Amino acid sequence: MNDNSKKIVQAILNSITNIKSYGLKSGKRVYVDYNNERKVQNRKEKKEKRQQFYYTKGNNFSTTNNEIPKDFENKIICGDSQNILSQLPDNCIDIVVTSPPYNFGLDYASTSDDNHWENYFKKLFSIFSECVRVLKYGGRIIINIQPLFSDYIPTHHIISNFFIQKKMIWKGEILWEKIITTVSILRGEAGKAHPILT
Ligand SMILES: C[S@@+](CC[C@H](N)C(=O)[O-])C[C@H]1O[C@@H](n2cnc3c(N)ncnc32)[C@H](O)[C@@H]1O
Repeated sequence: MNDNSKKIVQAILNSITNIKSYGLKSGKRVYVDYNNERKVQNRKEKKEKRQQFYYTKGNNFSTTNNEIPKDFENKIICGDSQNILSQLPDNCIDIVVTSPPYNFGLDYASTSDDNHWENYFKKLFSIFSECVRVLKYGGRIIINIQPLFSDYIPTHHIISNFFIQKKMIWKGEILWEKIITTVSILRGEAGKAHPILT
C-alpha cells in the first residue's frame, strides 16, 4: 500500500471512529440509535391490519383431541397409508413426518413412481386429507419433497397451496442443497450426496 492509499484508509478509519455511537449489537455493527431508524414503525398495529394467516379464517377444525387407539401405539405398521390412516379417529396424532414418492420414476419395490401428474396429486392429496383429519388441534405436518425440474412441476409449491386451501397455517420451508464435496470425493465417497441446510 503506498503512502497515499494509507492516508485514505486512515481517513476512513478516523471518520468511523469519530462516530461515537457506533457499536456492536448481537454480533452486528450498528449505531446505538439503530432502533430509531427501524424501517417498520408500529409493527403490532400493522400486523393486525394485514391479518396474520388470514387464509385460515372460517376453518372448522375441532379443538377436541382424541387418544390414539392402543393397537396403533409404538408400532411400525406396513401398508398403504390411506388404508391405515382411515382406521384412526379424528384428532389423535401430534405430528406427521412424511417423505412421499417424488414421481421421478424411481424404482420402488411395491409402488409405481411414474404416474400422470394429475393422478399423482389426486392420490397424494387424498392421503394428505386423511393426515389433516387425524392430526390433533395444534398438530404439525412435515413434508419432505423435491420438485421435478425436468417436468416443470413445482411439487413443493403445489403441496403448500393444498394445505393453505385446507386452512392450515404455513410455518416455513427448509431448503436442502445436495452436493458432492471435493473432500468426499478425495475420501472415495463420490456418489453420496451430503444434504446441507442453506
Ligand atoms: C421418497 S420414498 C421415502 C423413503 C423413506 N424415507 C425411507 O427411507 O424408506 C417414498 C416411499 O413411499 C412408499 N409409498 C408409495 N406409496 C405409498 C402408499 N400409498 N402408502 C405407503 N407408502 C407408500 C414408496 O414405496 C417409497 O418407499
